[in-house]
Amino acid sequence: MKPWPPGPGSAILAAMQPTPLPPVLTIDGPSGSGKGTISRRVAETLGWHYLDSGALYRAVGLAAAWEGVDLDDDEAVEACARRTRIRFADDAAGEPRVFVNEQDATDELRLETTGAAASSIAAKPGVRAALVEMQHGFRQPPGLVADGRDMGTVIFPDAAFKVFLTASAAERAERRHKQLMDKGVSVNLDSLLGEIIARDERDANRAVAPLRPAPEAVVIDTTGIGIEAVVARVLAHVREGGYPVPAR
Ligand code: DC
Repeated sequence: MKPWPPGPGSAILAAMQPTPLPPVLTIDGPSGSGKGTISRRVAETLGWHYLDSGALYRAVGLAAAWEGVDLDDDEAVEACARRTRIRFADDAAGEPRVFVNEQDATDELRLETTGAAASSIAAKPGVRAALVEMQHGFRQPPGLVADGRDMGTVIFPDAAFKVFLTASAAERAERRHKQLMDKGVSVNLDSLLGEIIARDERDANRAVAPLRPAPEAVVIDTTGIGIEAVVARVLAHVREGGYPVPAR
């Protein structure tokens, strides 16, 4: 018979300990701060999962547009957020694709109009609440890199590592301009800058989960800094926190 109460170090006590949750690195920041590219590279290096939370808001904005939902009707948009099925999968070439209600919406999701719709519906508390559980579901072993606006403040407040990326609005507009030009989409730089400033203002000034760094986040201004250098700084933050980072 096993002794009771169990002594220190017993298998029974060990089995009763709650399983520690996988570690999380949150990377928040405004649009065009480089979050997506940097988060993907960091997740790859660590071998962790990756959550692009902006894609969830974009997917709901897109589904609402497809279904003709009135964006001023909070309850209708929340119901749309709850029924929209969002799936991430890599294609045969290893490129990430996003499926909204089983339709490949990857390209449509990146459009500026979808970003603006996402920013507008993201200000609704019911929509944010509808997406919480899905976001928590991404926290799987061995770890998660979560990119967004409120990852460190609201969704994963217990994250072991928190980063906030910034860059001047002018540089962010230029980066977006280049990305779009590379894709063959021609847009006016000034109107892009205007859209970025308007989106930042809406994201930073909304009542629920506004864009702001968690008090303990490491803030990195990426203006004039290349992607590789920023990735190295984020990984250094994780390493300094005591987590073993594989060599790149
Ligand atoms: O990161 P992104 O540009 O794909 O995000 C699109 C919009 O979604 C952004 O303008 C605000 C909203 N969003 C949010 O409110 N909270 C998040 N965690 C991620 C995005």
